[in-house]
Amino acid sequence: MKVLVTGGAGYIGSHTTLSLLDDGHDVVVLDNLCNSNAESVRRVEEISGRHVEFRRVDLLDAVALDAVFAEFRFDSVIHFAGLKAVGESVEKPLAYYQNNVVGTLNLLHAMERAEVRTLVFSSSATVYGASDRVPLNEHEPLDASNPYGRTKEQIEDILSDLGAADPRWRVALLRYFNPAGAHESGRIGEDPQGTPNNLLPFVAQVAVGRREKVTVFGGDYPTPDGTGIRDYIHVMDLAAGHIAAVGFLNNRSGVFRWNLGTGRGSSVLEVIQAFSEAVGHKVKHEFADRRPGDAAVSYADPAAALADLGWSAHRTLAQMCEDHWRWQRNNPFGYSNDVAVPSLHGK
Ligand code: NAD
Ligand code: WQD
Repeated sequence: MKVLVTGGAGYIGSHTTLSLLDDGHDVVVLDNLCNSNAESVRRVEEISGRHVEFRRVDLLDAVALDAVFAEFRFDSVIHFAGLKAVGESVEKPLAYYQNNVVGTLNLLHAMERAEVRTLVFSSSATVYGASDRVPLNEHEPLDASNPYGRTKEQIEDILSDLGAADPRWRVALLRYFNPAGAHESGRIGEDPQGTPNNLLPFVAQVAVGRREKVTVFGGDYPTPDGTGIRDYIHVMDLAAGHIAAVGFLNNRSGVFRWNLGTGRGSSVLEVIQAFSEAVGHKVKHEFADRRPGDAAVSYADPAAALADLGWSAHRTLAQMCEDHWRWQRNNPFGYSNDVAVPSLHGK
């Protein structure tokens, strides 16, 4: 199949592109590089030994989008492109609605014009809001609590309405829990710009000497060790979930929703401990107040994805940390790896 991957230069998109190529598909990556580096696409080519067409296009540019759909005949689209920082979305809601919602509308219009109606969309567990009911299944009411999450909820609504209006559409809404890890080669991985918002990249930057210590947001949650619990899922397991979804949509039309998580929760302290073991020395941390809006516990009920797609996540937290560390250790400054690191520890 020929697949268009929007946001394919980013963290999850680059890993999924690699899995698609390994699975025999042809891939065109579309990305405006606002939060990524084209080097990721080059490295995907290097690892796979396959060519990837790359088009530097902004989803807000409808004319350029049409040109991509005129140039290639796609069987399906996997849509990762979007802005994803919760805090920034609170400060700049218009930029988030514009980029994520309007960008997706532009993509859907271009798909309609090109008569391509198969789409896998990157949704998020964030659509469930700060619910502490676990495990979370797909029937939970949606209650996103910030502008970023609401863009995901709104796009889910748009796609549901589209599927109801035109049964030719084949849509998978994939609600990721907490992506972590990197491809086992250590050549591609997460490369956040500025201060990482998420736990794993922050821990990794402390481990590699770029930051002094991890700040643990809250040690007084009603959890066994007092810290927040999340469902961390290896990015290569996530990538496999996308391949499974594309295969499923090959045979069926309609709009489908699946959680992509492991069904297991890990606390912040368990993550820091597992990462320390991967590195071979202790990653320093200190406690601070809870971060506003955080749930105590969140993990998936992934049963529907297993039943419908035959997919489940099988990589462990230890593997996520080992793979994340291999990437960070080999690329301390990510894809712009030209700055000297003061001291590198560990294996
Ligand atoms: P990322 O920032 O690494 O990748 C997103 C890519 O989209 C980037 O390469 C960026 O340059 C590109 N992009 C953004 N706006 C664009 C536009 N207007 N036109 C073209 N390209 C554009 O993020 P990621 O972690 O790989 O996330 C991928 C998707 O998964 C996002 O939609 C995100 O909201 C969603 N998601 C991520 C997580 C997570 O924790 N990483 C969790 C759940 C859902
Ligand atoms: C995980 C745990 C924090 C950083 C976010 C988005 C969600 C989705 C995934 C996109 C929590 C704690 C974190 C730190 C810490 N993204 N923590 N110190 O909040 O579950 O989900 O990313 O869709 O929408 O909200 O992930 O990695 O930020 O936090 O103690 O420096 O780590 O309190 O318990 P979260 P996270």
